[in-house]
Order: sequence, then C-alpha cells, then structure tokens
Amino acid sequence: MVNKSKSIKRTKVKCNIIFGDSRSVLPPLGQIADLIITSPPYADARKKHYDSISPDEFVEWFSSFHNAFFHILKPNGSLVINIKDKVENGVRNRYVWKTIEKLSELGWFAIEDYIWYKTNPMPGYWPTRLRDGWEYCFHLAKTTKPYINQNAVKISLGDWAESRLSKLNGKDLARHNSENNSGFGRDLSRWIGKKDVLPSNVIVLPLVGKNYNHPAVFPVGLPSFFIKLLSPNGGTIVDPFGGSGTTAIAAVRLGRNAILVDNNLDYCFTSVKRLKDESENFNFTLEQINFPKC
Ligand SMILES: C[S@@+](CC[C@H](N)C(=O)[O-])C[C@H]1O[C@@H](n2cnc3c(N)ncnc32)[C@H](O)[C@@H]1O
Repeated sequence: MVNKSKSIKRTKVKCNIIFGDSRSVLPPLGQIADLIITSPPYADARKKHYDSISPDEFVEWFSSFHNAFFHILKPNGSLVINIKDKVENGVRNRYVWKTIEKLSELGWFAIEDYIWYKTNPMPGYWPTRLRDGWEYCFHLAKTTKPYINQNAVKISLGDWAESRLSKLNGKDLARHNSENNSGFGRDLSRWIGKKDVLPSNVIVLPLVGKNYNHPAVFPVGLPSFFIKLLSPNGGTIVDPFGGSGTTAIAAVRLGRNAILVDNNLDYCFTSVKRLKDESENFNFTLEQINFPKC
C-alpha cells in the first residue's frame, strides 16, 4: 500500500506523453533532460508489433537519433540504453557493440556497462547455448564526469556485518592484500559503523510477468535504479522509445518529471492508462501531446 501523505509533500512533477518520432519531436524542447533512459526496438525483434530494423542497418538507424539525444541532454546528464544483441544463424551479431562504438565516435563517453540479470529467463532449449538470462544497460554521457548520486542506491551491509565486525583481529585491522597476489586488498576495520555499501554494476530483477498491451515492457525497477543514481530530485527524465510508459511510472514515483515519446499511438494510449492509474497514488500532472483529436 502506498503512503499518499508522503507523496503530497513533494513538489508536483509533470508527465508529458508525446505521440511522434523522437528524432523530430524532442529537439524543439531544448536542453531539458537530466537523464535519457530507454530501451529501443531490438534488431529484428517484434516484427508483428512495431518497425523492426535489421542488425546490419541498426548502427545507422540508431545513429539517426544521436543529434536529438545530444541536443536535449544537459551537459552533465546521462544516456542509458538497455539492449541485447541477437543470434543470427547460430552466431551472436554484435550490432550492439558496434552501435556503442559509433556513439563514442559521435562524441559520447562510455562511462560504464551494467548488466541486468534476469532471475526468471524465458524457458526453452537451444542446441548450442543456454537460456538467455541477462541484458546490457550501457551508461553514456557528454562528459567523463556526469552527475551521479551513489548514496541513492546504496544497499544494506546486512546482519552478518555487525557480528563479523565486532570480532576483528590481526590482519583484519590493517589493509590485507589478497592471498592470490591479485593486487586487490581490503581493510575490514574501515567498515566499522557503516550501515550500507555500494551495490555492484549487476542489477538483479525479474522479467515483467503482467500483460501491459506491449510486447517488450521492462520492469519498473530497471529505470528506477538509474533514475535514483543518475538524476537529481525534481529532474527531468526522457524516454524516447516510451512503449507502455514504464520509465514515466518510475520517474513520477521518484519525484522526477517525465517525457515519453512513442511513434505508435496505441502504445501512447497504453502509457496514458498506466499513468492515470499511478495518479491515484502519486501527485503529478499528465499531458498528452500531438494526440489526434477524436
Ligand atoms: C522496446 S519498446 C520500449 C518498451 C518500454 N521500455 C516499456 O517498458 O514499455 C520500443 C518502443 O519504441 C517505439 N519506437 C520505435 N521507433 C520510434 C521512433 N522513431 N520514435 C519514437 N518511438 C519509437 C516502438 O513503438 C516501441 O514501443
């Protein structure tokens, strides 16, 4: 159950859902984005549902969004792309790596590669591989030092820490180099009094089980993680491939403004419906832009 009184205290944020091609509708908005987080159509996927791009054309296709993304992102903002490469004739096509290389040539800094580890990968059998249990989340930015708030995603040290740290002795009390001479080391005494630590760059989340009238919905927890880490309170989050509205749900729940774009009107309506449901528990204004008059 969500606590309504908590959300009422926050500044009211806005959610705009725009029908159109993000290459043309985003640039006129100016430099508004603290974070662009998105999952584009994967190459040759979902042909029945929306435009599908072949792996060989993907780099060029995705590069056609570069100007719009670069233009709307603030100087210290970030771009996070959730994507996965594709198996063609039994071999992984690396269009995803080539796309990131191309974006680097166009001026983006590749800050980090995160992995979304799916706890419930699709069942099935493949002759030369196992079930596919993860996807990339590439973190890119216009500078090598984009905005980051690591405190916002810290995780609890856990119950083990209190009893372990109360029994420190000998080599625990100074820096202790790894037994395997790897060059890494640790000083457990520096953890005394700490309640939380940084998580790793592996995000553990199940696939979405519910049908939201869209074939490729990612879990709210995925954009939520990056919104907390890479945008300030009250900032503006843009998803240029908005789909069913998941990024906007994460944004308004976390007190950020959201701008979603999708060139499929049905998906824009799906977003509107999901966001209207959210507005029962969270305080934000919802605007539909470029929707045809019925
Ligand atoms: C992988 S889905 C995003 C799903 C979304 N993350 C969610 O949780 O619902 C990609 C979306 O991009 C949209 N799309 C494709 N080309 C587009 C374009 N040029 N401009 C705006 N949206 C586009 C598709 O209609 C599709 O809904």
